[in-house]
Amino acid sequence: MKICCIGAGYVGGPTMAMIAKKCPEIPVTVVDINQARIDAWNSDTLPVYEPGLDEVVKEARGRNLFFTTEVDKGIQEADIIFVSVNTPTKTYGTGAGKAADLKFVELCARRIAEVANGDKIIVEKSTLPVRTAESIRRILAGSGKPYNFQVISNPEFLAEGTAMEDLTEPDRVLIGGEESEAGDKAVAALVDVYAHWVPRERILTTNVWSSELSKLTANAFLAQRVSSINAISALCEATEANVSEVARAIGTDSRIGPKFLKSSVGFGGSCFQKDILNLVYLCEHFGLPEVAAYWEQVIAMNDYQKRRFVDRIVKTLFNTVSGKKIAILGFAFKKDTNDTRESPAIYVCRDLLEEQANVAVYDPKVTPETIYRDLQTDASDERVSIMTDPYEAMKDAHAVVILTEWDAFKDYDWQKVYDNMLKPAFVFDGRNILDLNKLREIGFEATGIGQGGKRGTM
Ligand code: NAD
Ligand code: UGA
Repeated sequence: MKICCIGAGYVGGPTMAMIAKKCPEIPVTVVDINQARIDAWNSDTLPVYEPGLDEVVKEARGRNLFFTTEVDKGIQEADIIFVSVNTPTKTYGTGAGKAADLKFVELCARRIAEVANGDKIIVEKSTLPVRTAESIRRILAGSGKPYNFQVISNPEFLAEGTAMEDLTEPDRVLIGGEESEAGDKAVAALVDVYAHWVPRERILTTNVWSSELSKLTANAFLAQRVSSINAISALCEATEANVSEVARAIGTDSRIGPKFLKSSVGFGGSCFQKDILNLVYLCEHFGLPEVAAYWEQVIAMNDYQKRRFVDRIVKTLFNTVSGKKIAILGFAFKKDTNDTRESPAIYVCRDLLEEQANVAVYDPKVTPETIYRDLQTDASDERVSIMTDPYEAMKDAHAVVILTEWDAFKDYDWQKVYDNMLKPAFVFDGRNILDLNKLREIGFEATGIGQGGKRGTM
């Protein structure tokens, strides 16, 4: 048994590293067309920052885990081929702005069809619209080759920042297969791989379409919880209720549960928005406009939350930020990752720059190249400075804006920060991680998200 994974990204890399660690007798080859990414996977500085990932890669790399650009060879040698390429929102043609762009997935299917030299199990690891497996099957069948190609769905539920924990102890592994003897055999082969470390009762098997749709649905439900609590945060600010207290109070109801109720400047990441838009597009495609409108509101609320946050900064800073230095703490879309895709920080910084502010950005893991790229500018832009020292970022600033919940921010010497800022010194905590009352005692004018009441417990 040999495994190949096409796509060495945030999912392909960590997922295959975990399979290689847990199944030392199975050779696992991760292939990608991006040479720089493959070189990084083969170096001491991995392209993905994830707590615990370095150790797992170090243990398995060269033993039964390989990273290479030899895509065709990887396909030919493998029995099971995971497809873990990117599926961004389409930016052109029919469905632009909503539908998933499946060109990378289709290219993989065509490559497999062209070079395959035997039976293959093709595993959809990328997040895909329901019924994509059918298109992949047709492309493979079009090759006219006499081999058996089974397409199964095995969506990934890991979250960035906790990927290694999520992979080690997943709530469930979902595998969807064709309802036929060959389909059952393919599903069983993949179940055997995961059963090396995942208890059998946590490996769920379904038909392909349920599996594909469950992935979009899971992300839609999670994002919907964040938008729901963020909607309530606006009401808290208007009524002196405190959203952290409300979240705690409702989260103790076991039917609601405490997770994904942290109000914030808005959700980011490469998937929530893209997957909901994809769901919306599917609903419209299948003639369900009411269902589409329902889910679209989750995105509308998230956009509102980001805009609302910037509006509040501008309003509080006497209705102008023009020429003012604003320190931005955190650029990643959440803590413990270097990923900035769809990070609220991008939107907040862009809006502030549009208001002619100067931003000084500090993030412990995101590179300056990434920040400049995301803000569509470069080092020659005097309005954007990227700092390696957070205290320098905050020195002489009019306001500090927290956009990622990095733990280290809580332990800063906030008295020192205050002493070095312009007065009045403002803090806008877009993640509700700081003790606002302590900051106020120091002298800051501090606000969080949905922190209407005076107690501001967090
Ligand atoms: P990514 O952009 O980090 O990685 C995708 C990789 O695929 C890139 O390195 C790219 O070069 C490579 N690639 C594209 N076309 C290729 C081809 N034809 N041949 C070889 N390589 C090719 O993306 P990601 O974050 O790893 O996400 C991959 C998929 O997994 C997406 O569908 C996403 O929705 C889903 N997903 C992501 C996460 C996450 O946390 N990032 C979690 C669950 C599911
Ligand atoms: C999310 C899902 O949690 C994963 O199960 C899924 O596999 C993945 O998407 C995917 O398909 O890509 P991820 O985006 O990595 O994972 O991270 P999350 O922890 O879900 O956070 C997403 C965003 O929501 C972040 O910006 C986070 O800060 C924000 N968030 C999350 C909140 O604002 N409040 C919360 O209570 C939780």
